[in-house]
Amino acid sequence: MSENTDDLEQSVMLAAAAADLREYEEAESRLPELKHDPVPVETSRKSYYTETRFSDQERDNNVCTVTNRKETNADSHSRGQARQSTSNKRSREDSDDSDSHPHKKAALIKEVSIGTSHAEVVATHYNLIEEKGLQERSKSRVIHLRNFHNWIKSMLINEYLTKIRDSKKQHNPPIRVHDMCCGKGGDLSKWRIGNISHLICSDIAEMALEDCKNRYASYVKQRSRNDRGWGSNNIFSMEVVHGDGGKVRYREKFKDPSIKLDLVSCQFAFHYSFESLPQANCWFKNVSECLQAGGYFIGTMVDSNEIIARYRKSETDSFGNNVFEVRELNFDAAKPPLFGGKYNFELFGIINCPEFLVHFPTFEKLGKKYGLKLVKKEKFWNFFERMKDEGKQLLTNMGALESYPPTEGKTLVGNDGDDYTHAKEFLKNQNGDDGCCGTLSKSEWEASSLYLTFAFQKVKNTWNADGTPCYDI
Ligand SMILES: C[S@@+](CC[C@H](N)C(=O)[O-])C[C@H]1O[C@@H](n2cnc3c(N)ncnc32)[C@H](O)[C@@H]1O
Repeated sequence: MSENTDDLEQSVMLAAAAADLREYEEAESRLPELKHDPVPVETSRKSYYTETRFSDQERDNNVCTVTNRKETNADSHSRGQARQSTSNKRSREDSDDSDSHPHKKAALIKEVSIGTSHAEVVATHYNLIEEKGLQERSKSRVIHLRNFHNWIKSMLINEYLTKIRDSKKQHNPPIRVHDMCCGKGGDLSKWRIGNISHLICSDIAEMALEDCKNRYASYVKQRSRNDRGWGSNNIFSMEVVHGDGGKVRYREKFKDPSIKLDLVSCQFAFHYSFESLPQANCWFKNVSECLQAGGYFIGTMVDSNEIIARYRKSETDSFGNNVFEVRELNFDAAKPPLFGGKYNFELFGIINCPEFLVHFPTFEKLGKKYGLKLVKKEKFWNFFERMKDEGKQLLTNMGALESYPPTEGKTLVGNDGDDYTHAKEFLKNQNGDDGCCGTLSKSEWEASSLYLTFAFQKVKNTWNADGTPCYDI
């Protein structure tokens, strides 16, 4: 698309979206409710952590895998109190370059220090993240938050794979998926459990993709060692595509550019796309191009209403708590931009990156342009409410909620004062103080409630006289 067309499109969008900015206002008025409702559910003391659990390998694969290479758990605990210098430059300098991919990593650091695009800063950040073992990760202050987010992804993926499977008349139909912004392949086990046939994994972070390939190879190896572990199904085939989703046409890099995909999944990443309209267009083109009519585009991303609402409430130019911080909000909160609304998001010890506001009505409009019809948008809280009964066993298996009060020998990850008031209240109302529930600490919930899930369905197109596709949405 030419720059002039982009300018025109952007000005039309700006005009159309001006009215939609009231969404931000509404979110602000709902803020107290959103911030203090950290998902307690009743559990029995006995069952928590004692029932069927994933094997270590299984849980390992289900845990979101982002931890800065140099950062220790002690660091991540103390970050909330004593904020370090958190610029990307500093975290690059601090990063341990001694483990895998040393040459590539050194080259990357050099490249980024010359001063490059935000996308490259993000790529470098994710390239430098080291995968920690299960034991190390289980000590993290945000272990339940991460497990909870994995539970959300598992439930979302399962929901849409089921719809896809139900819509096909065949028994055991082939299902082809594109995991866009797959990172190290944290969702590979979900694709395996979902019994898909082919997976395309794409990401801007080359070394994360290497880890993803290695993880896949270990699955294949494990399968050939122990066929029982995978049931009678073969593991899906996989290909990997490297590139910036906002610049590269992924289709041209697919082994089969004519592939018809059933599902595109983009988890915790679309908030990197709204730097500019051309970039967002390119991301959407990558999502939609190979998705067949009836197929779905699903994902999780930051809810920019939450960012704006909390920023407006904040008396400083940042907000957060002892597990996360949003800062350097590089725009006027009274008039947030549709594109390029940059801020820095840090989940202490795990993520520290620039992100961009994704104004949802604009996101939805762009989807329409690419033949994608919004079918669902839910805040994490609403998603949890809808899915908690169906996913109760998985919540336990994945350790997605923390037991309150803690089971014997365990200590709470948060502060027993403020962080669990909601759980105490919940138990008081349920059982008169005696009992046990699963929850997230308030600080973790304040981070988790920044996110939403979305799902689009690709619609059939007709053709305009000039040969462009036309969607009736
Ligand atoms: C928070 S991680 C999520 C990884 C994975 N989807 C998950 O849920 O565990 C975000 C991922 O988005 C990728 N990413 C960010 N900007 C990108 C871009 N412009 N093009 C492609 N990938 C990008 C990062 O490299 C990173 O792997």
